[in-house]
Amino acid sequence: MSSSEQPTFKLGLLTGGGDCPGLNAAIRAVVRKSIINGWQIMGFRNGWAGILERDYFEMTDRHVSGILNQGGTMLGTSRTDPRKTKGNYEKARSIFEGPGLDALIAIGGDDTLSVANQLAADGHPVVGIPKTMDNDVQGTDYCIGFDSAVTRVTEALDFLHTTASSHHRAMVVEVMGRDAGWVATIAGLAGGADYIVIPEVAAQLDDILGRLNMRRDQGKDFSIIVISEGARIEGLEEAEARVSGSDEFGHVDLSSKELGRRLANAIEDGTGMETRVTVLGHVQRGGPPSVFDRVLATRLGVTAVRMVRNQRWGYMPALQGRDIVEVPLTQAVGTNRKVDLDLYEVAEIFF
Ligand code: F6P
Repeated sequence: MSSSEQPTFKLGLLTGGGDCPGLNAAIRAVVRKSIINGWQIMGFRNGWAGILERDYFEMTDRHVSGILNQGGTMLGTSRTDPRKTKGNYEKARSIFEGPGLDALIAIGGDDTLSVANQLAADGHPVVGIPKTMDNDVQGTDYCIGFDSAVTRVTEALDFLHTTASSHHRAMVVEVMGRDAGWVATIAGLAGGADYIVIPEVAAQLDDILGRLNMRRDQGKDFSIIVISEGARIEGLEEAEARVSGSDEFGHVDLSSKELGRRLANAIEDGTGMETRVTVLGHVQRGGPPSVFDRVLATRLGVTAVRMVRNQRWGYMPALQGRDIVEVPLTQAVGTNRKVDLDLYEVAEIFF
């Protein structure tokens, strides 16, 4: 960093964790604003792996031209945790030594931001930006990627309604949401789900079956049930996840538990309704970002650069109401933001 009144920075940028739409919009905003400031900006490939491997390139306007509406992340991503392997955390933090970086912006969810938080706590110049289609980072109303994901899921529910009603079937729709049911709740609300199962609300198989039978008795001969992959249903046997699906942050591959499939079988057995299951999977986080995500990512990216200039280490920009505010990473990580139960109760009125 130069010592003039307008400090110049050699700034690093990375994206970590699961990809989602809007990451490129955030990258573009950080790069464009940094270049306007006269700074050098280094893009690190594949999250914290890029920091460990010193795998980076200097970014120019050309790199970010045309990426605003592109899904995924042009920097690549990984679920590498530098604290996982002995010596790696020391290697990661040495990126700030000598001719290394003056500052780093890490874009990610709870896992990536927890590494950023630790680096900041150890005195390093790090700012975070919250993204995750799960929308479960504390301190922000919206994370980059969530709006695009629920838009996609809602569209899928619209499509599934026509085929469910034509065949008079129950349709179980399994969506992502490891620790929190934001995707299921908001998309279920917008897409007219007849039952929503999320990790935050204890669900009983008998209750689900009872509601479906009740709908049938009312002459409603099809039903859409949206379920978060991380939910639990009392009365439905638990399944083990395949060990091969776990990542460095210790997360197992929840889709391998086939919760949607097992619920569909139980519905067919318990109600006699012909039942189909749709696992939306990674379609939910692919493709172009929504308008909302493009604007949010751009605002967060520009604000993060301003925070670097103001040396707001250990903070992230966050959307609260209509405002972008600065939230300490210590508040953002460690626990997941759960679905507001009053929101779930609104959705429940329509079950
Ligand atoms: O990023 C969070 C998330 O979308 C979770 O909802 C889901 O469990 C997980 O990613 C799956 O991601 P991957 O298949 O990349 O491990």
